[in-house]
Amino acid sequence: MGPASCHVDMADIGLRADLAGKVREITSVHVPEGERRKGWATALLNYLGICADRHSVALLLEVKSEGDMRDADLEAFYTRFGFEKFQTNPDVLMVRVPRQ
Ligand SMILES: CC(C)(COP(=O)(O)OP(=O)(O)OC[C@H]1O[C@@H](n2cnc3c(N)ncnc32)[C@H](O)[C@@H]1OP(=O)(O)O)[C@@H](O)C(=O)NCCC(=O)NCCS
Repeated sequence: MGPASCHVDMADIGLRADLAGKVREITSVHVPEGERRKGWATALLNYLGICADRHSVALLLEVKSEGDMRDADLEAFYTRFGFEKFQTNPDVLMVRVPRQ
């Protein structure tokens, strides 16, 4: 999505029985420094949400800042797209269940 990028892979975690085999993990969410705060990550996350809903897939990600945003900022950011905290320790994991 423009300069915003990420990886999406199969994930194998027990969420809900009806989501078995239907969980994808998002990693490496990244926007180059000169392109940040222009809405590129927002556009990417909105697009991923639309795709996930269309395919009834849950999205999983680990909140781990690799830039200026604090982990708390990232949590608030992902919450905008329907992600909810799923695990706090040892890592913060957030999950977005598909909307009908
Ligand atoms: C996290 C990242 C992908 C966000 O990309 P982005 O394109 O700048 O995000 P957006 O422009 O869509 O900004 C979305 C919101 O995030 C918040 N945000 C962005 N940068 C922020 C910062 N430095 N501090 C606090 N909040 C910030 C703001 O609320 C912003 O919305 P606003 O500009 O309307 O206020 C980017 O900062 C990045 O690549 N960081 C390094 C890699 C990383 O940490 N990835 C996350 C791994 S979990």
